[in-house]
Amino acid sequence: MNKLIGLLLFTSLIGLSNAVSQAQSPTGAPMATADRVQGSGWWPTKGTAAREDYVGPDACAQCHRAKVNGARKTPMAHASMPVADSEALRSHNRLETQIGPFHYQIVSTAQGVEYSVTDGTKSASVPLT
Ligand code: HEC
Repeated sequence: MNKLIGLLLFTSLIGLSNAVSQAQSPTGAPMATADRVQGSGWWPTKGTAAREDYVGPDACAQCHRAKVNGARKTPMAHASMPVADSEALRSHNRLETQIGPFHYQIVSTAQGVEYSVTDGTKSASVPLT
């Protein structure tokens, strides 16, 4: 009996986590983020506050210092940031990789940081800011 209750609890938890993690349209098809946030409920991407109202983590650190310091060390905290704040770019003048026919580079010079890709014949580049 305990096994059955455990199994029921486990399957209902899976169902709940699927419901939470994947919003679906009335037809049951997964929805794009832009469509999903139009629906009811709150989503992290459902920002209605003005950009200038964002106080930043230092405001929270006044009372939640340990949480803010911990969050700053997570991979997610380093997923996106201004070039000037990037320790990875500061400590590597050249980052490059080859994926299939494409060669990707991020090169830092005194003039700035440039991101480029080439397939050996055509190439494109943009400055990173
Ligand atoms: C003046 C102090 C103060 C500041 C500044 C502050 N908080 Fe809080 N926060 C609290 C207190 C007190 C609690 C309640 C803690 C508890 O119930 O144990 C709390 C609770 C929370 C919780 C709920 C935590 C939980 O476990 O349920 C979150 C999330 C949170 N704060 C986020 C933030 C964020 C984000 C910011 C910055 C935008 C912020 N707080 C700024 C004092 C503050």
